[in-house]
Amino acid sequence: MNDITMMKLFPVPVFTAVESDFDHLRSDILEYIRDYRDTYDSEKISNIGGYQSASDIHQDIDFKNNCDRLWDIISPIAQHIGDLFAEHGYPSTTLTLANMWFNVNGKGNSNVEHTHPHCFYSGVIWIKAKPGMGGLSMKSPHEHSLYGMVDTLWTAEPEEGRVMLFPSFLPHSVAANPTDEERISISFNLHVTVPL
Ligand SMILES: [Fe+2]
Repeated sequence: MNDITMMKLFPVPVFTAVESDFDHLRSDILEYIRDYRDTYDSEKISNIGGYQSASDIHQDIDFKNNCDRLWDIISPIAQHIGDLFAEHGYPSTTLTLANMWFNVNGKGNSNVEHTHPHCFYSGVIWIKAKPGMGGLSMKSPHEHSLYGMVDTLWTAEPEEGRVMLFPSFLPHSVAANPTDEERISISFNLHVTVPL
């Protein structure tokens, strides 16, 4: 018999990039978050403790400028994903912003495992965070059959200005923040439109 070959078929495409020119946007977003928290109570969705805004800040006129600048960071990745569709015979595929919210997790606060139903891609950009403040873990959709054979959990450490974009069906969670500093991120979902 010849050597056994393992073919890793059907990978899960996850995209990431870092915005290097981030300081000004970061301070403007933190100012918005400070004012927002003074006005509204926290949502309770996937968060265990901490503060999570409503998922419509992209429609808040007071956030519009920040949202536009965030989209300047996100849209090249969304365009890149659309270009991949074009390579496979689906030109002019577009990804659009569905919703957006922010997360503030203090010491001991986390997000339980979840998915984002009815969306195409989901993403996060870390606004105020650093490695060691609780990572974003993604679980393999093949965990059941491949458990114990391959790694089925992958973790990204927080990094200010880093964007992660992953398929919305992928189960993910965020570890508790073990530090005394607040970990702040913006999350969002994208819809897809594929011209037929
Ligand atoms: Fe999520």
